[in-house]
Amino acid sequence: MPDAPITVAIDGPSGSGKSSVSKAVARTLGVAYLDTGAMYRALAWWALDRGLDLTDQAAVARAAHDLPLEIGTDPDDVTVRVDGTDVTEAIRQTRISSQVSAVATNLDVRAELRRRQRELIEQARHDHGGVVAEGRDITTVVAPDAEHRILVTASEEARLARRSTELHGGAGAELLAATRDQIVRRDRDDSTVSAFFVPADGVVGIDTSELSFEESVQAVLDVVQAGGAGL
Ligand code: DC
Repeated sequence: MPDAPITVAIDGPSGSGKSSVSKAVARTLGVAYLDTGAMYRALAWWALDRGLDLTDQAAVARAAHDLPLEIGTDPDDVTVRVDGTDVTEAIRQTRISSQVSAVATNLDVRAELRRRQRELIEQARHDHGGVVAEGRDITTVVAPDAEHRILVTASEEARLARRSTELHGGAGAELLAATRDQIVRRDRDDSTVSAFFVPADGVVGIDTSELSFEESVQAVLDVVQAGGAGL
């Protein structure tokens, strides 16, 4: 646990490696981990489960307020539960990935989930000495006062190859094309409501295109240490 509470805010597009890197950084720092994307995914899952039309903005916003969500903030146990049901695996399915942007671009939903994210961050600072919180708008909107703010990026080629290997077990031409369709479209939709390709003022950019996983984790830890975390 660090000497004083810290928030490490990490944003970035799909396939930048930010989720696995954020989790490893949280583990090394001995703080909590918050995957805010999982919250949007859990809401999409619940809304679909209840038969809602995700383009019905008012209905989905109401669902966001009522969402009975429990999200694990231990980097070694990121179980997500909705109304007691374990949806950790279900929210990663293509059915959710391909529709979650409709939920994430709903501004009333964003306001409600942002409120919950700030609460979870405060709680983690209090209970665990800090948190690595990752998403698309953490450095800019959710936690602009975070002690450390980092944007993890990677070239489109690197992002596609990583996601293709993750999703389909390879990065051959056909698999890359299928992944491109999914990832590029989603990032384009998502970037209409938050800017996560270019670091905002005071945010440190880390390009992981040429970095291994371990090098990416170290690059983030270097930024945190340079920023004066008492580690
Ligand atoms: O990182 P991910 O793929 O699990 O994110 C799921 C969706 O939520 C994706 O459409 C981006 C969106 N998102 C967001 O808009 N803001 C965040 N802070 C985190 C995720």
